Formats: sequence, structure tokens, C-alpha cells
Amino acid sequence: MSFPPSIKTPRLVLRAHRRTDAPLLKAAIDANLDHLRAFMPWAKKEPSSLQVIEQRIEKFDQRFRADSEWGYLIFSEGEKMLYGGIGVHRSTEKGALSIGFWLGKDWTKQGYATEATIALRDVAMKMPGIDRVQINCDARNTTSAGVARRAGFKHVNTIEKHVFEPGEPPRTTTVWEYPGTRDVAKPKKKGFWARLFGG
Ligand SMILES: CC(C)(COP(=O)(O)OP(=O)(O)OC[C@H]1O[C@@H](n2cnc3c(N)ncnc32)[C@H](O)[C@@H]1OP(=O)(O)O)[C@@H](O)C(=O)NCCC(=O)NCCS
Repeated sequence: MSFPPSIKTPRLVLRAHRRTDAPLLKAAIDANLDHLRAFMPWAKKEPSSLQVIEQRIEKFDQRFRADSEWGYLIFSEGEKMLYGGIGVHRSTEKGALSIGFWLGKDWTKQGYATEATIALRDVAMKMPGIDRVQINCDARNTTSAGVARRAGFKHVNTIEKHVFEPGEPPRTTTVWEYPGTRDVAKPKKKGFWARLFGG
């Protein structure tokens, strides 16, 4: 079982990238540089030439076919408008997949990121060996945390000041999980012997 190349939701179509999407994708990124740069590290290197975007799409396509990473574009019904992108990545943790997303600023505040996340979350949960889906976001990224919360993810961990970028203070990441039944945020209760011997 693998991720389908296209997923329909009540208002959206999530579709794997095609080379012919390059001009549309470039236009969407170039029109949203400041909006994306705040929390998407790749956007700091934009804008890119059309040729670079085409090469990037080729890599997305190779990874999708190799079942190593599944990138989608988020379109309106009938693929009339490109709203943004969403992808599923393998997590460093066993049994987990991770979702990342972005929307063009004109397409925010309508619930599209939440709708796309719920759809991919449900597909991800059906993958063999997967028992949870994660969203990792910069602790200052309140809109991303809002998507996680609305899509049913629970805040399970905060990794303090572990992302280092030149000229910027270290960044803290919040980890959200679906279904969020693992209690990783709270310290484990000490067992009997540890309580007795102070371990
Ligand atoms: C993160 C990002 C996708 C969130 O966008 P968003 O518009 O806040 O999220 P949604 O599309 O789910 O929309 C939710 C908003 O629409 C509102 N909304 C309107 N109709 C809705 C509906 N039918 N269903 C759900 N929400 C709806 C919600 O109330 C919410 O607004 P609020 O935050 O004022 O309460 C966007 O800010 C972005 O692209 N940021 C830059 C990239 C980024 O940071 N990516 C995340 C990296 S982890």
C-alpha cells in the first residue's frame, strides 16, 4: 500500500507534482516570499528559476515513486487554482510520519490547510507500520499550531532551542501528534525501585 497520486476532499484536490506544474508553482512561491520565509527554511533561497523548480519537481516525483516522501500540491476543486503545498515525510521516530504544509497568503483563513492535513493524516495512518502522524512546527508559528489542533493533533513535546541558523537565535520546535495517545510530554512516573533508591 502506498500514497495515492491524487486525493479529493470536500473542497480540495491534493495531487502529486507534475513537471508541467512548474510555472504555476513558481508563480505561487514568488508571490508569497515574505509569507513563506518566516517559517519555511527552503523559502529563504527563493526565488528560483523555472529550470530549478522543474528539477525540484523531478526530485519530488522520484521520491514519491520510491515511497520515501510524498509531496502534493493543494488545488481547488477541478484544479482551477493552486492554493499551496503539503507533504508527508518519514520521521526519525519509528512508527511515525510527519506532515508539513503551506498556503499562499490569499488562501489562508478558510480552513484549507486543516482540510488537507486531515485527509493526508488519514491516509498516513493506514500505511503499514505507522501508528502516529506528527506535525513539527516552530514554537512561534501559531497558525501552524492552529492547523495541528483543528486537525485533531495533540501537543506532545517541545524541543527547546535546537535549530541553529546563521544570524538568528536558536529556534524551539513544538511536536504535535495524531492520535496523540502517547504521553511523551510528561516525564514518566518513577517505578517502585527507582522511588526506593532515588534513581
Ligand atoms: C500554516 C498555514 C498553512 C496556516 O494557514 P491557516 O489559514 O491559518 O489554516 P487553515 O487553512 O486551516 O485555516 C484556518 C483558519 O480559517 C478559519 N476557517 C474558516 N473556514 C473554515 C473551515 N471551513 N474549516 C476550518 N477553518 C476555517 C479558521 O477559523 C482559522 O482561522 P483563525 O486562525 O482565525 O481561527 C499558513 O499560515 C501558512 O502557509 N504559513 C506559512 C508556511 C508555514 O508556516 N507552514 C507551516 C510549517 S509547519
